[in-house]
Amino acid sequence: MRNIVILISGSGSNMAAIVRAAEQGRWSERLSVRVAAVLSNRADAQGLDFAKAHGISTAVLDHKAFASREEFDAALMAEIDRYEADLLVLAGFMRILTPGFVAHYAGRLLNIHPSLLPAFPGLNTHQRALDAGCRFAGATVHQVTAELDHGEILTQAVVPVLVHDTADTLAARVLTQEHLIYPQAVAQFLAQSPTRVKRG
Ligand code: GAR
Repeated sequence: MRNIVILISGSGSNMAAIVRAAEQGRWSERLSVRVAAVLSNRADAQGLDFAKAHGISTAVLDHKAFASREEFDAALMAEIDRYEADLLVLAGFMRILTPGFVAHYAGRLLNIHPSLLPAFPGLNTHQRALDAGCRFAGATVHQVTAELDHGEILTQAVVPVLVHDTADTLAARVLTQEHLIYPQAVAQFLAQSPTRVKRG
């Protein structure tokens, strides 16, 4: 059994897509996977309700309660490691991670970013794509490195930019594609990575 831990900060729709894919056994029969926990840095993240309704352990660690980024990340690592995560999935987790955190999960840490990386790392990706006159936009699933929104690209989805698009309409079009590519990329990544040796 492979354990996935998912980190969210908001609506958690990508997390929900991954949970549904795991539940529906849409992944290969040989790939026995469960979402062991959904963790958030915000108590008001709507995705927590979905996770609870699906019987998944949840926890909130409010980053504002910690004196430094390092202390927050250390507490987050301790919580994640309770679940012996084979894979840590960032799904709209809006925190910059410390190099120590990234190193701890090296090779088992994925993120989805709402742009066609390496274009538009960082925030406000859809408005920036519109302002730049892009004809296409999209999303990228990538491995996480210490550099923000870098790391090996696993897959991308491309959508057209339409004449009357706003940042919101473009974001919604991209998000529907995120829900398709993220579960697929997670399954493919797990299928290709060796099983972790469990401690204890
Ligand atoms: C998604 O569009 C995701 O790509 C983006 O936040 C949204 C979260 O939606 N992530 C980032 O911007 C990370 N830099 P969700 O909470 O409904 O999955």
